[in-house]
Amino acid sequence: MIGHAVDRVDGPLKATGRAAYAYEHWEAGRPLYGFIVGATIGKGRITRIDTEDAEGAPGVHLVMTHLNAPVQGPRDESVSFEYWRAQPELTGPDVHHYGEPVALVVAGTLEQARAAADLVEVEYSTGRGRFDFGEYEDDVYIPKVVNAGLPTDTEVGDFQAGFDNAEVKVDQHYTTPYEFSLPIEPNACLAEPRGEDLVVYVSSQIVNAARASVAATLRMNPERVHVVAPFVGGGFGSKLGIHSETILAALAARTLNRPVKVAMTRQQVFQLVGMRPISSQRVRLGAERDGRLTAIAHDVTMHTNPDIEYAEQTAATTRSLYAAPHRLTSHRLAALDLPRGTDVRAPGEAPGMLAVESAMDELADALGMDPVELRIRNEPTVDPERNVPYSDRHLVDCLREGARRFGWENRPATPASVREGRWLIGYGMSAAIRGHFQGPTAVRVRLEADGTAVVRTDMTDIGTGTYTILTQVAAEGLGLPLDRVRIELGLSDLPASWGSGGSWGATNSCTATHRACMALREKLLEAARGDARSPLHGLSPAEAVFSDGDVGIGGATETLGEIVARSHPEGLEAEGQVRYMGDEPNYSDYSINTYGAHFAEVGVDADTAEIRLRRMLGVFSVGRVFNPKTTRSQLIGGMVWGVGAALEEEAVVDPRSGAFVNRDLAGYLVPVHADITDVDAVVLDGYDDKANVLGAKGVGEVGICGAGASVVNAVFNATGVRVRDFPVTIEKVL
Ligand code: MOS
Repeated sequence: MIGHAVDRVDGPLKATGRAAYAYEHWEAGRPLYGFIVGATIGKGRITRIDTEDAEGAPGVHLVMTHLNAPVQGPRDESVSFEYWRAQPELTGPDVHHYGEPVALVVAGTLEQARAAADLVEVEYSTGRGRFDFGEYEDDVYIPKVVNAGLPTDTEVGDFQAGFDNAEVKVDQHYTTPYEFSLPIEPNACLAEPRGEDLVVYVSSQIVNAARASVAATLRMNPERVHVVAPFVGGGFGSKLGIHSETILAALAARTLNRPVKVAMTRQQVFQLVGMRPISSQRVRLGAERDGRLTAIAHDVTMHTNPDIEYAEQTAATTRSLYAAPHRLTSHRLAALDLPRGTDVRAPGEAPGMLAVESAMDELADALGMDPVELRIRNEPTVDPERNVPYSDRHLVDCLREGARRFGWENRPATPASVREGRWLIGYGMSAAIRGHFQGPTAVRVRLEADGTAVVRTDMTDIGTGTYTILTQVAAEGLGLPLDRVRIELGLSDLPASWGSGGSWGATNSCTATHRACMALREKLLEAARGDARSPLHGLSPAEAVFSDGDVGIGGATETLGEIVARSHPEGLEAEGQVRYMGDEPNYSDYSINTYGAHFAEVGVDADTAEIRLRRMLGVFSVGRVFNPKTTRSQLIGGMVWGVGAALEEEAVVDPRSGAFVNRDLAGYLVPVHADITDVDAVVLDGYDDKANVLGAKGVGEVGICGAGASVVNAVFNATGVRVRDFPVTIEKVL
């Protein structure tokens, strides 16, 4: 069952509209609708807020502002993971960034709420905000840690001496813009009071965090908060934590004792959810003439919100990717009065590898060396900064297999040397690496007397295929046909998981499911062996084979259903768990990562500099694959993000107000079908026995890592123009 391209088991529900997303639940009956009123200044203070007209408008039940909002729990930095912390809203008159909620208007219909929102009158005293990164990027401080708890700075050897003595050098600055997660489903919540309890239908990647965060904010017992998120329309980081819509819906619902729905508009998503920080990155590479790196430095400056520190781990992969004796990485923050930085689609690796893998291409060019060969020449034998072995590193295999499949030998040897009609043709490539993580996850599997199994966990399926792969893992674990396994996800009353994020969801939940199934096998065999009525009575469990709903030992067989019906007519259950990686020796003894190699071919119009991606191939090593179909979809999705980062995505701040100027999908460009014609992802056979008992690793984010660099390197190969200010748009190439 594991490893087969099983169709999504939830596909028919989604394709027929029967899968209910957060905003579509009707269990609570007719709800009220909330609409968020956002600040129209970027920094300052509310001096007067007049809600009288709004309160008198048709259908309005409540206008909540900082003057009447319930007291909420404070953000508590001692809670170790930020998405579990309180997220209070409407706490006072101060405005910290443009669009910050200043009121919630609740009415009988969405139209009434939205119309009344326009009637809320707010006067401000406007402060001088820090909005422009360019103006403040030298006014920096050192963060406490960078994302994922990693150190801000590392140094190995003597970088300066190594770099000074290098025969060939690259020393360049690269910049990446504000980027947003932007799943199709905007952040949304329906909050329904039920007596002392609160049911929260919310679009969430981590149900367990959503419950903790709602409870801490509303100062409730977490047991009284019930999060419901069986279907989630994409996340990409924007739903790891909960946001204003959830807290405001919950506060209004408890105030009115009525169900209240709040969804963000797309424009509000841009102002309220947080974004990938803008970055300025200096990359220095020093090498011998034969291409061997002697010195690598990666120094990053990015923005942070002053109150909610977030430092993307932009230089973290540079610590593991290539061998070099002298090394340096650093992260610095410039505080701006903008929304908080947050996790967006491979935080750290995506912008960091765009810079470093561009710099590697520049080094290859300076050396006159093939960029694939340059990377192979710098393959380390152990993780160069942690000084531990890699668990299962196949970067070179990815590079070689990718080059072969792509026809890399046809790459134009000299930039701007191949032309087909109007089009200048270029090839580019990049390496990819991403860390693999594990977090506490529990799954309960129950066998019913009818021989079916139910898998239960609060893990989410954010479009990635969780329902499908858990079905496969449980079916294999218990020797059941796929259609006899049912999956229940996304409810906070189920066993807690680390949810979907950081590319860890699939392996955490599949490993815990596998363990639960193995424990169930033991229980079944014990029941059969001790039961004189079972054909398996007294037989050695070591010989047992589970297949097609039967247990067989030697020539004797009995169905799982029969064993359960007789021994545990109410059903037989077992729980499987996965521990936090900090408690697993493998995660400190080995450097556990996924790998890939990206290859891209572009055409650039010789007159207009219009850039067209002609084809793209990624070859990946991710350990064992649960399902080649869902895996390929994840990887291709990541590669398309990479194309967006390379050529299109960029949110622009108005330096006067701190607002995002292009805060919708008309102005914030992402690749569309016409941009993506021929993209393929190939996965090498693999098994990483250090990662987990199933040998599998995450696939959600390695697809974007390095992907953008292969495209921008192809643009250089096509045109001879090197752009370091991403995205690479036409006016920068002309
Ligand atoms: Mo991911 S940015 O951890 O959802």
